[in-house]
Amino acid sequence: MAEGLQLRNVSKTFTAPEGDIVRALDDVSLDVASNEFVVLLGPSGCGKTTLLRTIAGLENVDSGEIHLDGERLDETAPFRRAVNTVFQSYALFPFLTVERNIAFGLEMEKRPRAEIRERVAEMLDLVELSGFAKRTPAQMSGGQQQRVALARALAKRPSMLLLDEPLGALDLKLRRQMQTELKRIQRSTGIAFVFVTHGQEEALALGDRIAVLNAGRIVQIGTPQEIYEAPATRFVADFIGETNLLPVTYDADGTLTVAGQWKLHLAGVGDIDEATVATADSVSLAVRPERVSLHPDGHLRGVVAETAYLGADVHLTIDLGNGLRINVREDAQDHSVDVGDSVSLRIEPRHTRILTS
Ligand SMILES: Nc1ncnc2c1ncn2[C@@H]1O[C@H](COP(=O)(O)OP(=O)(O)OP(=O)(O)O)[C@@H](O)[C@H]1O
Ligand SMILES: [Mg+2]
Repeated sequence: MAEGLQLRNVSKTFTAPEGDIVRALDDVSLDVASNEFVVLLGPSGCGKTTLLRTIAGLENVDSGEIHLDGERLDETAPFRRAVNTVFQSYALFPFLTVERNIAFGLEMEKRPRAEIRERVAEMLDLVELSGFAKRTPAQMSGGQQQRVALARALAKRPSMLLLDEPLGALDLKLRRQMQTELKRIQRSTGIAFVFVTHGQEEALALGDRIAVLNAGRIVQIGTPQEIYEAPATRFVADFIGETNLLPVTYDADGTLTVAGQWKLHLAGVGDIDEATVATADSVSLAVRPERVSLHPDGHLRGVVAETAYLGADVHLTIDLGNGLRINVREDAQDHSVDVGDSVSLRIEPRHTRILTS
């Protein structure tokens, strides 16, 4: 029996009240290992919540299969599924104390009192709230309530925890703290986490792997480094981090011209084949601003249009002519140019991606 979660060709459509058909999930396949932290990342409306709800059993699939630890999950009643969900709006019981909130699921299962007491203490310890057992949710901060929600969801020792933007209501500082906490808790319990966010920084910080969704489809899945360094499409390159997309024309024999200036041979640019580039409707070169440097022996020439000093580094916008601009990030210590200066820019081909979709 296969461990972990497998989704195979899962599709789900909704009929909106206006009569429109919404394809919320379109042929989604995904594997999550039994101790993995997978982040689902994508813009609003791309299907993230729908995907979690189908795993949780709150939504039926139209087609496809879902397996968890070797069982057909989509044929298992929701309350029998070994998954638990944490929502953005903690959904704690307001009139129950912290310890009774955490014990709730175990009490429903009529577990022995001693076992419940022990498990609640263990969970309070895990989320570092041991002194808060007798409080009610209203007597706690947002971050503390979120940790109670997490403890409650983990108390039944699910095989997998589903988290739908659980940090969305927290301010930035608390959010960062909770990210570290979540990562620690996931590691120490070894339970698989499927975590939804539309924040790309959060995804990079948390995921063992990130699945990028757009319009109901997984467009790329990989480690944070793979997604950042080797985006598969313009959408991924643009959605994760800051990127420059420069127009490319295909000349012949594997040579390209970037932004009308830079002659480049495909051989140096990674793993795209020539036929794909030659037949594509449009071709772009993606390069991160921190991978472009000012260098006398450069590939592109332009004029500094804007500079912004941000402490550790300086953001430059360079006008390349023909209405094209490129963003460059320079170490503030090396900063030596001003608006109006002519500059030459160097880009290592191995730090670029040629994208055709
Ligand atoms: N019950 C429903 N009836 C009709 N359409 C729905 C229903 N639930 C979701 N949708 C539609 O399905 C699509 C996916 O919605 P979903 O809630 O999964 O998006 P999401 O990625 O979680 O977005 P967000 O980041 O805003 O939470 C959207 O276009 C949404 O309008
Ligand atoms: Mg959502």
